[in-house]
Amino acid sequence: MALQLGDAAPNFTAETTEGMITFHEYLGDGWGILFSHPADFTPVCTTELGAVAKLRGEFARRNTKVLALSVDPMESHERWAGDIEEVTGAKLNFPLIADPELTVANLYGMLHPNASTTMTVRSVFIIGPDKKVKLMLTYPAATGRDFKEILRVLTSLQLTAKHQVATPADWREGEEVIITMAVSNEEAAVRFPGYTTIKPYIRMAAQPV
Ligand code: BEZ
Repeated sequence: MALQLGDAAPNFTAETTEGMITFHEYLGDGWGILFSHPADFTPVCTTELGAVAKLRGEFARRNTKVLALSVDPMESHERWAGDIEEVTGAKLNFPLIADPELTVANLYGMLHPNASTTMTVRSVFIIGPDKKVKLMLTYPAATGRDFKEILRVLTSLQLTAKHQVATPADWREGEEVIITMAVSNEEAAVRFPGYTTIKPYIRMAAQPV
């Protein structure tokens, strides 16, 4: 059955541009993002990997390790890395899995045969420190991802995992959050002083730290 939210993120050992990596060991105690792209030496993918490299500090600030995948072989990844730096100005600073046997791609359901039988779709998996899948996104080959949105989601996931809050539509870091229904009004008054009630089921509070 296809992976679903809350499932254990399958572990694997794979060859990457930074040597052999065992996924769970690589993640350690922190958060992780595993994402696939269709193919090396393609325009959208080149821009995407450069964009992720430029966000290195943002991922580090969120205690998150990034791991990319394509089904192309290592020799291709190594040649392509030069293009990524030349075109985007950012050096590849996270490992890129070579998955020519489709081992990891199949494990994570990254091949969608009605889209392509040979190239992975643009999958994103966010994995929590408990090694469970917290978020899944799937984009088609022709649409590059917005990695600022992925950072935004990661921020929300980390916030909602730590506090009993949820984030509303279009929420951005620093904006008000929603107190979940698991928190009584009495408890909310202590934990979220100054919270406001819009409806009995919509209580807003400043973003907790
Ligand atoms: C791209 O990265 O530009 C791309 C890759 C595969 C199919 C279409 C576009």
